Parts: sequence; structure tokens; C-alpha cells
Amino acid sequence: MSTDHFDLAGRTALITGASRGLGQVFGRALARAGADLIVTSRKAEDLTPFCHEVEAIGRRALPLELDVRDQYSIEAMCKAAIAAVDKIDVLVNNAGCNIRKPALEVTWDDWNTILDTNLRGSFFVAQGIARHMVERGYGRIINIGSVTSVCGYAGLGPYGASRGGIKQLTMSLADDWGPHGITVNCLAPGWFKTNQNRALYEQEGWVEYLTDRIPLKRPGKPDDLEGAIVFLASDASAYVTGQTLLVDGGISGGPVKIKL
Ligand SMILES: NC(=O)c1ccc[n+]([C@@H]2O[C@H](COP(=O)([O-])OP(=O)(O)OC[C@H]3O[C@@H](n4cnc5c(N)ncnc54)[C@H](OP(=O)(O)O)[C@@H]3O)[C@@H](O)[C@H]2O)c1
Repeated sequence: MSTDHFDLAGRTALITGASRGLGQVFGRALARAGADLIVTSRKAEDLTPFCHEVEAIGRRALPLELDVRDQYSIEAMCKAAIAAVDKIDVLVNNAGCNIRKPALEVTWDDWNTILDTNLRGSFFVAQGIARHMVERGYGRIINIGSVTSVCGYAGLGPYGASRGGIKQLTMSLADDWGPHGITVNCLAPGWFKTNQNRALYEQEGWVEYLTDRIPLKRPGKPDDLEGAIVFLASDASAYVTGQTLLVDGGISGGPVKIKL
């Protein structure tokens, strides 16, 4: 197989939640592989530095506002994105949030914030963009899951429920939209330092504790996600759908370590 299968020249990828963190990691990788981007944030001006970076790579980047907790914002973003470009080939459903708390302290509002953002938001963005992809008979949808899509962690009950839901949604949507030439997969990162988990990394001993539990003996680096996102966005994954690809240094293999 030639490396041309990974080439994204002439493709357009929409990435939600690209004002910082992993959304930018995914966007950078797709732009380097040749794709033009549409990127979103709740505040379009927060996307300006990243759009300049993408343009410096030689690709286009269109910033759009999106709040995935707001039905009308999703509808408006999908309409604007579809109107702005000839076609959208790839959707990366990345926008997400987390509130880490012991289960006994989780409030009604915490639950709603996490589930509405991560699960309901991802579904309705996928639905809005899939309408366009179905008309064209082509699309690659990549839902961002997590190691918590397949493992349980104390303090991450609602988050894990949202990510387990993403894995399930991925399988169902793959079946819905496969006949229309659309693949739907889930990329599930392990532990990567971003705004979302910075407080944990700042705790003394956290990195050592985490490293001890990861078979590859280090937390993730942004580069670790690049191959997987380009694979799932490109023709290299043409016959892969409904799958969850864990990029986690092996931690999902079993969080409990025994001394031998
Ligand atoms: N970091 C990790 O180790 C890790 C591991 C597994 C999965 N993930 C998942 O990967 C995704 C990116 O995480 P990250 O670590 O890069 O987090 P981050 O730095 O906090 O970035 C989150 C992104 O989501 C956007 N967002 C949050 N709430 C939103 C809303 N209501 N509507 C629209 N956009 C919203 C934010 O955009 P604005 O604030 O600009 O609107 C931001 O761009 C998340 O879904 C996260 O759960 C992260």
C-alpha cells in the first residue's frame, strides 16, 4: 500500500473545540497531511492564533462559533460550515469537558454539563454534518472518546458515562451511515496533559503514579495522536468503521498493577 492513502490534500476537516489542547493537535496533524480546516470555539476570536498557524502550514482555516450545549448554535454552525466550503470530508467531534469529583459530591448540574457537552453535543454535531455527508455519499466521522470509554476510574463517573456513550454511539452511527459511504470511528486518547487535567499534573507525585500504571512507561505526548487521527481521517481506514482506537500507552489493558 502506498503512503498516498494517508494523503488528505483536497479534503476539508471540521474540528470542534480547537481553541486549545487536543483539538489543535488533531487540526495540526490533519493540516500537515494536506487538509483545509474548519475550526470551532465558543469564542471565534480565540481561534485566531491557531488559524494563523494553519495558514503558515499552507492550509486554509475557517473559524466558526459553536456551543455544543446549544441546539441553535449547532444548527447555525453546521449551516455556516456547509455553506462556506464545497464539501466537508472529515468531522472530528472533539469539543468536551470534565468535572472531576467524588461520586457522592456530583450535582445534578455537573451531570448535565458533562453529558450535554460530551455526548448530546457530539451526537447532534454528527447528525448536522452527516446530513451533508449522506448527500455526497462520503464522510469520515471521528468521535473523540477516552480511556474512560472502556475503563472505570473513581472521580470520573459522569465523564466515563459520557465517554462510554461515545463508544456505543460510534458503533450505532457506523451502522446507520455506513450504507452512505460514511465511516464512524472513535479515537480514544489515554492521559495527555492539557487544560482539562492540568490540576492533576500539578499534584506532587501524579506523573510518577501515572507512569507506573502505563505499560509504555510515560504519559502521552501530542505527537502520539497524529498517526491515529490521520489514519482514521484518510483512505487508509476505508474499511474500518464502528471501532474505538485506544492511543493510551496500554493503560486500558488493566489499571491494577501487582508486584511480581
Ligand atoms: N487531555 C486528555 O488527556 C484527554 C484524554 C481523553 C479524551 N480527551 C477529550 O479530548 C477532547 C479535548 O480535550 P482537551 O484535553 O484538549 O481539553 P481542553 O484543553 O479543555 O479543550 C476543550 C475544547 O473543547 C471546547 N469546548 C468545551 N466546552 C464546549 C462547549 N460547550 N461547546 C463547544 N466547545 C466546547 C473548548 O472550546 P472553547 O472553550 O474555546 O469553547 C476547547 O477547545 C475533550 O473532549 C476531552 O474530554 C482528553
